[in-house]
Amino acid sequence: MRKVYLGILLSSVMALLMAGLHATGMAYQGIPDLLPTATAQEQEKRDLPPLILDDEAPLLLEDQETAKKSDQEIKALAESQPCFVCHVNYQEEVLASGHAKGGISCVQCHGDSFAHRNDENNTTPPDIMVPAEDIEPLCVTCHMMHDVPAAKVIARWQERCPDKQDPLTIVCTDCHGQHRLTVRTVQWNKKTRQLLPAKPKPTETDS
Ligand code: HEC
Ligand code: HEC
Ligand code: HEC
Ligand code: HEC
Repeated sequence: MRKVYLGILLSSVMALLMAGLHATGMAYQGIPDLLPTATAQEQEKRDLPPLILDDEAPLLLEDQETAKKSDQEIKALAESQPCFVCHVNYQEEVLASGHAKGGISCVQCHGDSFAHRNDENNTTPPDIMVPAEDIEPLCVTCHMMHDVPAAKVIARWQERCPDKQDPLTIVCTDCHGQHRLTVRTVQWNKKTRQLLPAKPKPTETDS
């Protein structure tokens, strides 16, 4: 009697196991004879190299994570879309993309700038320009604290703006983002908003 029960138990365990393996499609290679005749699709799966789950699973998760954008990010990116038409390089830039994740678009920092974006001659400046002395006041309206280990801050200083020896001249964007243009075709005085005469050659210190 015992033996019969054990046999039934064993075979149900085997059946469950096989069903499980069947569902994951992983064990086909070792035990093809025990499975029903393969469809073309199943055959294709059998021909694939064995899965290396350890390496592949986390990667896949990460991809799915980055593909999933929050509603506030989608909204911010939509708001920045008219700007990307001309400022395509800001689509990948970290200060802009980091803030888009937080729901902040170009428009929050630079204004709607309708006249600027509709001016085909590119002579009208955006609504809000940020001269050096206004950068920190702008940033601290939202970021009151800077909770970062000193060593990291100093390392970043040495990496990004070693020439700036006077701490009072350092601004947030010296260390954050790649938000400055290296080449400009049009330039305004950021305070008076006046169009500046075209420069023959762009220099490193343009800002
Ligand atoms: C029709 C093209 C066009 C569109 C659309 C456009 N811009 Fe511009 N923008 C320019 C040009 C040209 C410059 C000058 C910089 C250069 O030479 O590349 C400029 C410069 C700027 C500057 C730099 C101003 C400074 O401080 O000197 C900001 C900020 C700016 N744009 C913001 C925006 C924002 C925000 C939007 C979307 C709401 C936008 N732009 C849409 C063409 C455009
Ligand atoms: C969190 C606020 C913020 C957001 C968001 C932001 N900017 Fe800016 N932007 C600034 C500040 C601050 C400066 C001045 C940076 C400097 O001089 O170092 C600036 C400067 C610029 C300049 C002029 C760079 C130069 O070399 O003079 C352009 C062009 C510009 N932004 C375009 C954009 C566009 C396009 C977007 C959206 C994709 C955007 N910005 C989003 C704050 C922002
Ligand atoms: C209107 C509010 C606002 C302003 C102005 C603002 N930020 Fe932010 N910032 C945010 C939000 C929201 C986030 C994303 C949420 C978070 O992590 O705090 C963020 C994130 C950041 C991050 C982390 C981004 C990342 O990729 O993890 C940095 C760095 C930063 N901001 C720097 C700046 C600097 C520099 C300025 C000035 C040029 C500035 N912020 C102006 C709201 C603002
Ligand atoms: C000398 C370089 C330097 C300057 C100047 C600087 N930061 Fe940072 N900041 C850093 C470093 C380094 C980090 C850490 C980044 C990381 O962990 O990858 C950081 C992180 C941040 C973060 C995200 C972490 C947090 O919790 O605070 C924000 C927001 C930020 N900075 C805003 C600002 C603002 C606003 C200013 C200007 C008032 C500023 N930073 C000036 C170097 C700097």
